[in-house]
Amino acid sequence: MKLLRAHVMHVPTNPFKEGQLEAFPDGALALDGDTVQTAGSYSDLAERYPEAEVLDQRGAYLLPGFVDTHVHFPQVPVIGALGLRLLEWLDKRTLPEELRFADPHYAAQQADTFTRLLARNGTTSALVFGAHFKEAVDALFSAAEARGLRVTSGLVLGDRFLKDGLHTTPARAYKESRKLITTWHNRGRLRYAVTPRFSLSCTDDLLAVCGRLLGETPDLFFTSHINEQLEEIETVLGLFPETETYLDTYLKHGLVTDRSVFAHNVHVTDPELKSLAERGAAVAHCPSSNLFIGSGLFSLRRHLAAGVQVALGSDVGGGTGFSLLKEGLNAYQVQMLQADGLVLNGAQLLYLATSAGAKVLKLEDTVGDFTAGKQADLVLLRPPEGSTLEASLSAELNSEAQLAALLTLAREDCVVDVWVGGESVIG
Ligand code: GUN
Ligand code: ZN
Repeated sequence: MKLLRAHVMHVPTNPFKEGQLEAFPDGALALDGDTVQTAGSYSDLAERYPEAEVLDQRGAYLLPGFVDTHVHFPQVPVIGALGLRLLEWLDKRTLPEELRFADPHYAAQQADTFTRLLARNGTTSALVFGAHFKEAVDALFSAAEARGLRVTSGLVLGDRFLKDGLHTTPARAYKESRKLITTWHNRGRLRYAVTPRFSLSCTDDLLAVCGRLLGETPDLFFTSHINEQLEEIETVLGLFPETETYLDTYLKHGLVTDRSVFAHNVHVTDPELKSLAERGAAVAHCPSSNLFIGSGLFSLRRHLAAGVQVALGSDVGGGTGFSLLKEGLNAYQVQMLQADGLVLNGAQLLYLATSAGAKVLKLEDTVGDFTAGKQADLVLLRPPEGSTLEASLSAELNSEAQLAALLTLAREDCVVDVWVGGESVIG
């Protein structure tokens, strides 16, 4: 038994309902190997487990590992591409970079970097948009396995309007996806997600292959983009003249299920929200990306009112980095900018960055908070000496206010350790 002593914070019940932040300023997490026994005050747990080894991290904050429900593997060098909206951003910067992943050596090197950066930012579980090349996706899964991260990912598929070198065919997409599924799906902490890039870049024949893959292996995940920018939506509706909404392009191939995660959904219609809710499909809200590439202001109120599950995504490289704390801050700001926006509190933001994502990825029995029996996936944050964060965290602040300061100011330079299943995954 181990006691990890720090300022412990987590959100074990939904704060959009009756739940709230549970915090123990001089707290501890009791761990039995890879499993959480309980979170509590240090004095209580020290009394209950007198034999336990104590890891003293006083002055640090102990949070559940973050869950990123939308992040792109081949886009780290694209972060910060100024001056471009979605379709131009894809054409000028993003797709040219993604073409480089045809080189297995480059892809392997980037897979190592990408998984290291996820961990460095406290992300322990992620739904990752893979690459258009099978060997690159193999490299990503291998790197995630070597590091011990919980990664769900897949081969990105497109057969039109990208760049020639990125295009596949329905037959090849089926064959390569099947191979990847056989190798990686449900191997340790890894799972497979069928991943058409977006309807704009996929013919009906290719989307039909996606439906066939899901039909053959029912516990696969599905992810894609939807309703991100107006020009994109107009183009999609023009390409599928028989469909009324963007979501219909996925619906007609059986791609909208309770294991489907759609990124963005900024410009969504009410019928689409209803349909997503009825099917239990989830939305990855990517606020820093929606701001950076100018997509618009996400209506969390409409999603929650319709009963659609929402969690956070960094959307690197449309997003401005890997930090899910920063996505929380951006989510807060995006709501504040809207007349009917929800005024979010720290517990709600931490929930969106942890338990909500765990639920979306069907990992809610495994990770997301520190209730007994969950896996010890955690992040330890310590304000750097002399930093603004250190100065702002005065001892008089209650835990809620300290959490708010972390969301606002704590970034990768504050991450001192990250564990998945009781073991460190950084370094
Ligand atoms: N739509 C299609 N591809 C992409 C992508 O790589 N990033 C974002 N943000 N939207 C997309
Ligand atoms: Zn994306």
